[in-house]
Amino acid sequence: MKTAGGSDAAKRRAGERAAQDVTDGAVVGLGTGSTTAYAIEALGRAVDDGLEIRGIPTSFQSRQLALEVGIELTTLDAVDGVDLAIDGADQVADDPDTTGYGALIKGGGAAHTREKLVDAAADRFVVVADPSKLAGTLERSVPIEVIPDAHTVVADRLRELGGEPTLREAEGKDGPVVTDNGNLVLDCAFGPIDDPDSLATRLARLPGVVEHGLFVDLADVTYVGTDDGVETREY
Ligand code: 5RP
Repeated sequence: MKTAGGSDAAKRRAGERAAQDVTDGAVVGLGTGSTTAYAIEALGRAVDDGLEIRGIPTSFQSRQLALEVGIELTTLDAVDGVDLAIDGADQVADDPDTTGYGALIKGGGAAHTREKLVDAAADRFVVVADPSKLAGTLERSVPIEVIPDAHTVVADRLRELGGEPTLREAEGKDGPVVTDNGNLVLDCAFGPIDDPDSLATRLARLPGVVEHGLFVDLADVTYVGTDDGVETREY
């Protein structure tokens, strides 16, 4: 369920802009995905130049990349707080006249459980995106991580909520995607999501749901890389 589209140049601009917000001594949440990867690489170069930071990865992928580029790693339970988290999104609600302005759909990389944990713990959550991620109303399928025993029961409850769930299938492996936490992912289409907060509350209540990919009232800023610069949305 990764988002297609979005130029690499735009992603790079967004990621590198976010890395500029990281100051010496910071504890940094390291999100997942191709846009955040540009931020992690930029932080690696800054570390080579003397920046001292500790990173908290949100997935196997971001941990591997952070190790490759030489970022010292830590964990949530070993720090007093997280200064800033940088993370991508599959869709960003971009209409300032709606209540869901700045809400996100995440989980295209099936990493949204740890991403939400780390992003929500940060004093400042910086989203990095390209213009293909912006939407007036969120409407992509919402990734929902479930414990394996729960997938059929949760799918039934999601249909009762008006959704159309699909168990995410793996590529390069038979059977379903298994998350870094050993769970499964249902991608649930709801059509246009006019009230992300209300849907988020209903999803969080379902037994067997570990975490869903609606991020409401969490982002502080989105950097949108474009063909020739970076646009900023402050929330
Ligand atoms: C992973 C995510 C990613 O941040 C999201 O899929 C965006 O990825 P990309 O920057 O590659 O488009 O939520 O779970």
